[in-house]
Amino acid sequence: MISIRAYCESDAGAVGRLIADTYGAFNLDFASPEEKLKLLGPFQHARSTDEAHRAAIAGALRAAMVFVAEDDGEILGVLRGRKDRVQSLFVRGDHHRQGIGRRLIQHLEAECLRQQSTVIRLAATLYAVPFYLAMGYRRSTGIRNGWSFEGVGLRYQPMKKIVADM
Ligand SMILES: CC(C)(COP(=O)(O)OP(=O)(O)OC[C@H]1O[C@@H](n2cnc3c(N)ncnc32)[C@H](O)[C@@H]1OP(=O)(O)O)[C@@H](O)C(=O)NCCC(=O)NCCS
Repeated sequence: MISIRAYCESDAGAVGRLIADTYGAFNLDFASPEEKLKLLGPFQHARSTDEAHRAAIAGALRAAMVFVAEDDGEILGVLRGRKDRVQSLFVRGDHHRQGIGRRLIQHLEAECLRQQSTVIRLAATLYAVPFYLAMGYRRSTGIRNGWSFEGVGLRYQPMKKIVADM
C-alpha cells in the first residue's frame, strides 16, 4: 500500500535516481545530450558512489518540506516545497496515473493550510500542466523560458492555486 511520509537524508540515493530518470525521460527531450547533463545538474551523477556527488545530490534535495510516496520500502514519488510553493514533483514513470502525484500534492496543500498559507505557486513543466489543471491550479502568466542548474531552454508554465479564502 502506498503511503506518504517525510523524506529523510537516507532516502537521498533512491530519490536522486528517481529524479534523474523521471526528469530525463519526461522533461528534457528538447535538449541535446550535452545540455541535458547541464539541466540535470548533480542528478546526472545519481548512480555515482563518489561522496562529493552524493553530497551534492543530498544538498539539492533539501527544502522546507520534502515528502516521499513509498510502497513496500520502494520510493515511487517525491515532492519538494515550502508553505507557499511546489519546488519539484516527480513520480516514477512506471507508476504514472495511479494517483501518486495527487496524493503528494494533497499532502503539501494540507500542510500549507496548517501553516496558514492560502496561495500555492509553482513553475510547471509543460508535461505536467494537465496534471496541475486537474489538481485545480490555474495558469498565472504565459509560458516562460527558464533554466535548471547550469542548463537553459527549459520552458515552464507559472501556475497557482488558492487553497483557502482568508
Ligand atoms: C506530473 C506527474 C507528477 C503526475 O503524477 P501522477 O502520479 O502520474 O499523477 P496522478 O495519477 O495523481 O494524476 C492525477 C490526475 O491528473 C491528470 N493527469 C496526470 N497526468 C496526466 C497526463 N500525463 N496527461 C493528462 N492528464 C494527466 C489526470 O486527470 C489524473 O487523473 P486520472 O488518472 O484519474 O485521469 C508525473 O507525470 C511526473 O512525474 N511527470 C514527470 C515530471 C514532471 O513533469 N514533474 C512536474 C514538475 S513541476
